[in-house]
Amino acid sequence: MKKILITGGAGFIGSNLIRHFISKYPDYELFNLDKLTYAGNLENLHDVENKPNYHFIKGDITDREFINDLFSKYKFDFVIHLAAESHVDRSILNPLEFIMTNIVGTVNLLNSARHIWKQGDHLFYHVSTDEVYGSLGAEGKFTEETAYDPRSPYSASKASSDHIVRAYFHTYNLPVVISNCSNNYGPFHFPEKLIPLAINNIKKMQPVPVYGKGENIRDWLYVEDHAKAIDVIFHKGKIGETYNIGSDNEWKNIDLIRLLCKIMDTKLGRVPGTSETLITFVTDRPGHDLRYAIDPSKLRNELGWNPEQSFESGLEKTVDWYLENEVWLNHVTSGEYLKYYEIQYGR
Ligand code: NAD
Ligand code: DAU
Repeated sequence: MKKILITGGAGFIGSNLIRHFISKYPDYELFNLDKLTYAGNLENLHDVENKPNYHFIKGDITDREFINDLFSKYKFDFVIHLAAESHVDRSILNPLEFIMTNIVGTVNLLNSARHIWKQGDHLFYHVSTDEVYGSLGAEGKFTEETAYDPRSPYSASKASSDHIVRAYFHTYNLPVVISNCSNNYGPFHFPEKLIPLAINNIKKMQPVPVYGKGENIRDWLYVEDHAKAIDVIFHKGKIGETYNIGSDNEWKNIDLIRLLCKIMDTKLGRVPGTSETLITFVTDRPGHDLRYAIDPSKLRNELGWNPEQSFESGLEKTVDWYLENEVWLNHVTSGEYLKYYEIQYGR
């Protein structure tokens, strides 16, 4: 039985990935290691928590001794590393937390893996972001050859961790693979991020904050398509390689928010145009990257992955999920969320 450590499995992508692996690979033993920060939530995993091949471990990847002990005790064969501080705006408010978890935490995991993996079939899969490549102008896309040019404390911390993962491959022969993915959306997305934040605010008839003029462009991928890409790369990816993940789905923020308003008007039985009145242009994010766009040809051509979800129907599915999961939404938007919201948007 493959013993796989998934870090950050209680977060947005991690919980969707665990659900995907549990249903597809009942023979794998999955260990979800998560600190349960504000972004980690065991409610995301209710439907899998009693499966015999799923185990939850609460812990912090920055705690070196704890991580060493854990690897000695469980002797994981594979690691899929997602645990991270993931929100750009928070990285601007508090960079150190991002350096600790995203860089130091990654190094702790790499060291522990290196010490127990002397021989046999192993893989350290590092889940990363397209933000490491920086910001595009109107033309071109990020390929695996694009030079790194991170601009925010978040993307700089992820870029550092990518470099360190590659250094362990070259220096210690640690079997690694890295993927850099575009913006995800879908169920269990924490409502500090644009799409779920807008859904929540539109639902409550509150202002929808759009940074600057809303002209920044993001390339959106349904989270289950990301989980399927990780599955393919985990099983078929070449050791030492990097794969970009994206679905050729670029949207200007303002166009995306207008589409979301339209969907919400229909779902909530509002007069068409009602939700659009909530759009509020606010002070721009410092160092706001203009455009991200992924060229996923390597993943498509070499490993045969293709996204399955169209954007309009994926967005509708996402809206339905948030409207049907009011209790979840109320839980995650109380307490710490309100304090953060006040600091970020109260000005
Ligand atoms: P998330 O913020 O929803 O979840 C992060 C998880 O990591 C949470 O469960 C949190 O509790 C856990 N965590 C944080 N610090 C920890 C620590 N010190 N020790 C143990 N656990 C800790 O993030 P996400 O959106 O699911 O992103 C997951 C990964 O995918 C991240 O590495 C992120 O950089 C990457 N990524 C995200 C996107 C996206 O659009 N969300 C796109 C590309 C790549
Ligand atoms: O590209 C992948 C990255 O996508 C991941 O690595 C990050 O973890 C993830 O958070 C996401 O980063 P972004 O900064 O692109 O996502 P966010 O949802 O925060 O913002 C999307 C766009 O919307 C961006 O241009 C900023 C803008 N925005 C965001 C918020 C929260 C607004 O206009 N208003 C807002 O209130």
